[in-house]
Amino acid sequence: MSRRPIVGGNWKTNPEKVADLESKIANINACDTTNCDVYVCPSPLHMGLVYDKFTKGAKVTPQNCNFKGCGAYTGEMAADQFASMGIEWCLIGHSERRGEFGLPTPAESSDLLATKLAYLLEKGIKCVLAIGEPLPVREKGVEAVLAFCIEQLKPCLPHLDAAKVVIAYEPVWSIGTGVTATPAQAQETHKAIRDWIAKEKSAECAAAIRIQYGGSANAKNAPELSACPDIDGFLVGGASLKPEFAEIVAAIAKAKMPLSAQFEAVYKKSGLVPHPTIKGALATPATVLTRRFDEQYKKSGLVAHPTIKGAFVVSDAAWRDASPAGSAMAAVRASRPGSAKPEKA
Ligand code: 13P
Repeated sequence: MSRRPIVGGNWKTNPEKVADLESKIANINACDTTNCDVYVCPSPLHMGLVYDKFTKGAKVTPQNCNFKGCGAYTGEMAADQFASMGIEWCLIGHSERRGEFGLPTPAESSDLLATKLAYLLEKGIKCVLAIGEPLPVREKGVEAVLAFCIEQLKPCLPHLDAAKVVIAYEPVWSIGTGVTATPAQAQETHKAIRDWIAKEKSAECAAAIRIQYGGSANAKNAPELSACPDIDGFLVGGASLKPEFAEIVAAIAKAKMPLSAQFEAVYKKSGLVPHPTIKGALATPATVLTRRFDEQYKKSGLVAHPTIKGAFVVSDAAWRDASPAGSAMAAVRASRPGSAKPEKA
């Protein structure tokens, strides 16, 4: 099953200055969204300044939301407020909200996140649900990683809906560290998550749900990670604040382009046209052939045969210039009294 790729830019608590927002917005608007969904998570403080500035279809996606709606919830954002701002997506479950801040703020539990997920879906908001293991778990091997991710996913299982939920697998040890999971590690984990969804939810949901990779993704490692069959996109932190974000989007769009679209792209560039008689075959268009013929003809020094239609002969001048015999004969002819001057090239 082909899944449309999806790439998100998580700006976290960046940039520092309002004046820098314009260039950050430009990085997102530089993305070609023809073959890839794009979303951006501005910092909560900047949300109101930027939410209507994305011109290429990138979806503005808050980094959090509450599960109670509007009212006396100081410091919170409510899904109920999203609609009037045209906000369709929300990110929840980022490891930095699950207790990896390194700050003594209360961690969001998997049960709380399942409550948020259910609330968001009920309000018609689609959801990016982030999961991922810390380094000591990764060091125990993929089984431990899967067990850890399952613990995070399990309470959300009843709400998993491939049309409305995207999973972002972000190993904590690779976030902001410059240490990216190898394509083999990422693929193995994504596949294990998908297989678990197939077993516990349904084969259809597993085949259709998009699983993003996050953790030091950048323009350099995106092509190789994109080639992995179970990686459907990226959740990008640091590189989403840079112009290279558009390259990450382009890399996965290219890797996941359906065969027919790839054919279209090559076909458009080739200048070929359908063959006039052989169905399904392609040919060089007649105009190109004629132009090529004209160019060759001009270079050849040939001239139209004086009597045989469609045939060509070497002109006197070309023959003379090209062969010693020709120039010798031309000289003899020219030296005869009363003979015409040799033809000039
Ligand atoms: P980096 O791309 O900076 O490692 O951050 C990943 C991330 O946490 C995205 O949500």
